[in-house]
Amino acid sequence: MKTRNFSDDRMRLGLFWPSARTMHWTSKAVADRNPDVMDLAVHIEIAKLIEDIGLDYAFLADRYSPYTPASTRVGHQDPCILAYLWGAAIASHTRHIGIITTIHTTYLHPAHVARIGANLDVMSAGRWGMNIVTGFTANEQQLFGHEGLVDHTERYALADELISAVKELWRADEDIEFAGEALRFRGHLSGPRPVQQPWPLLVNAGASPSGQRFAVRQCDYVFTVGNDASQVSQLAGNLDEQAAEVDRKGEVLPMISVMPLIRDSQAEAEDEMAWISANIDTEAARAFAVSLTGGIKTYTETYKDVDEAVLLDTIGNGAGLFRIAGTPEQVAEQMADLYENSKAGGMLLSFPFWSPSEIGRMGDVLAILEKSGSWSHPKNAGWSW
Ligand SMILES: Cc1cc2nc3c(=O)[nH]c(=O)nc-3n(C[C@H](O)[C@H](O)[C@H](O)COP(=O)(O)O)c2cc1C
Repeated sequence: MKTRNFSDDRMRLGLFWPSARTMHWTSKAVADRNPDVMDLAVHIEIAKLIEDIGLDYAFLADRYSPYTPASTRVGHQDPCILAYLWGAAIASHTRHIGIITTIHTTYLHPAHVARIGANLDVMSAGRWGMNIVTGFTANEQQLFGHEGLVDHTERYALADELISAVKELWRADEDIEFAGEALRFRGHLSGPRPVQQPWPLLVNAGASPSGQRFAVRQCDYVFTVGNDASQVSQLAGNLDEQAAEVDRKGEVLPMISVMPLIRDSQAEAEDEMAWISANIDTEAARAFAVSLTGGIKTYTETYKDVDEAVLLDTIGNGAGLFRIAGTPEQVAEQMADLYENSKAGGMLLSFPFWSPSEIGRMGDVLAILEKSGSWSHPKNAGWSW
């Protein structure tokens, strides 16, 4: 079972799982260079590889609806593996890494969430985590019968209520009466109960004020967006203060999302970055940008004054993640700096090219970070979260 101990100042690293041919790059050319996302054997190979090189966890995002036909045409997040099912396969081929799967609170009943989560936590022997998301596009919410995009505040209020209900269901051995604003039910669940106590790791990516309030009350990891270390360090400071106010000081760990591109020489890395930019599909990039800036407050704020061409290149080429490109030495140095200056607890790595040999290059980076004392293998910390 994974334990939670965030006081050890250890750089945690997760893999933003390749759940589609391309996750953050709206480019058919990029997608075509990646493996077949429906090949389970590739996923299992990646799972074993990241455990071996020393990543801490796999993070599986999820969506129910494609953004637009242009997104589907380039393989951008469509087809997309269902996180909590494929997460089970990853669990069965690993022993130590955490497996964080996305679950949409707006679309499921708390009994579904509690039961799926308890089973995944048992299957993984206490290594499961839940990425709580509320959904941020109108077409996805219409699929579940909502009129359009449910109001931001209302989405978080529902998430908060649902997670409180799930926590009660995980504890209850006899019927409970749950009477919230949106959710009302009576009863209790069949076992199993989660292995991790008091509950499995809970994760959220809300950076807006309501997102932060929700995260510090209910969650353990908070994923941020932003391509500037000082922005992340400010968010980390805010989260710290708010966590202290609800008696959870030191219990909420911010994580930054990063795009690594590792090549043998700096020139090769620069050429590859330029190649990606030159191969972005503008129509699919626009669809992605409209969805992100329309549904996610942090994106709305960050990109409100940005010129369209810059916006399309930033979102189409990596969704605004920190870009870290270069030789293993250069990538290691940039990761160490970012870790130091952002005050985050770790990084979520999203690779544009995600074949096992590409992801395996991170092993060289980690060897350098270990030598310089900036990182140590999670087995040294008992594979804690
Ligand atoms: C690293 C990361 C991963 C995310 N994964 C998903 C996901 O898998 N599915 C989804 O619907 N939203 C996902 N989101 C969006 C968030 O759940 C959320 O809607 C958004 O960050 C809300 O931010 P806000 O509080 O600033 O509005 C993700 C966001 C980030 C930063």
